[in-house]
Amino acid sequence: MFCFVLLVFSLFQLTPALPVYQKHLLSCCESADLMNNCLNTIKESETEADAEMATGDLEPTHFPARRAAKVALHYINTQHGSPFKVFGLQTVHKARAEAVETGGRKYNLDFSVINWANEGSGLLSCTAEVFFPQNGPPEVQYNCDGLQKVNFTSEETDFLQKYREPESPLTAQYIPDSYGNMTDEMKPFWHLARVAASFIMLRESSEKTELNMAQVANITQQVTHENELKLNYYVLLHDMPSQEIIHWKLLMSWSPDGGVRVLNSEWQPKCPHDVPPNDNNTEPVSN
Ligand SMILES: *[C@@H]1O[C@H](CO)[C@@H](O)[C@H](O)[C@H]1NC(C)=O
Ligand SMILES: *[C@@H]1O[C@H](CO)[C@@H](O)[C@H](O)[C@H]1NC(C)=O
Ligand SMILES: *[C@@H]1O[C@H](CO)[C@@H](O)[C@H](O)[C@H]1NC(C)=O
Ligand SMILES: *[C@@H]1O[C@H](CO)[C@@H](O)[C@H](O)[C@H]1NC(C)=O
Repeated sequence: MFCFVLLVFSLFQLTPALPVYQKHLLSCCESADLMNNCLNTIKESETEADAEMATGDLEPTHFPARRAAKVALHYINTQHGSPFKVFGLQTVHKARAEAVETGGRKYNLDFSVINWANEGSGLLSCTAEVFFPQNGPPEVQYNCDGLQKVNFTSEETDFLQKYREPESPLTAQYIPDSYGNMTDEMKPFWHLARVAASFIMLRESSEKTELNMAQVANITQQVTHENELKLNYYVLLHDMPSQEIIHWKLLMSWSPDGGVRVLNSEWQPKCPHDVPPNDNNTEPVSN
């Protein structure tokens, strides 16, 4: 119960409470009691998740619809994300789920998204089909009004120029910090981390997960003489149903015309006996 209360508390506080949450809860290996509590919470939410595998029209504000829409968002971010563009889910308007004869389940969604990096830019309307096969990562097809494949801005080229050949490579940690703050300078790096993490969250998603980016533990720039930025990130992802924090190390590159690419990603075990999440989905990312 302690575990659960703390979790709910942490969720309301969201990112600000994360380091505390991690220390007390995620060192599950350190305390058998805590671990049992955590496992019970996980089992309960899994049972709920199973019960929610509804077909037909779904309540658009409920988890199954939002979860599927977030998977579509991860895909959209892999295609369009930049230091100044990372889409978040605003509202799901309509959602429908059905079982597919050959296995797996398919969602049809109508929803709106907003660029978190520039909220003044307004909402975009999207439709998507998200297919969860029985094994392997989800497949997404989408259409968003007014979203162009490659369209970079002077803000992006300026950002690249500023950091491309630094006097000393950028390093930073804890974005946001334990108060949920980050400097304006770090915001584009936070957006890039979210976009890079979308590649992993897309690949690791199933109908039983709902992955969100929680925190960047650290960034180290890798100097390159190409016309791009290369960054090593250590990111913490949060899975809502299981309340787990999942650690990933990744190397990504970004350029205004090439977008974000994840060159390497490596799941990091927190405890010695941990098994990789969603084993069947995990394949090396390459582009
Ligand atoms: C990006 O799109 C805007 C409008 O959608 C357009 O005005 C601008 O010229 C485009 N920029 C590039 C680099 O294609
Ligand atoms: C972080 O945010 C809190 C609440 O908004 C504020 O009180 C505090 O001064 C900020 N701290 C730093 C170091 O910016
Ligand atoms: C980044 O954070 C992780 C997790 O806290 C840590 O294990 C790793 O050593 C850190 N790396 C750097 C370069 O600070
Ligand atoms: C992984 O895939 C194999 C073969 O497709 C299947 O037998 C196994 O049950 C799957 N494991 C999980 C955890 O889904």
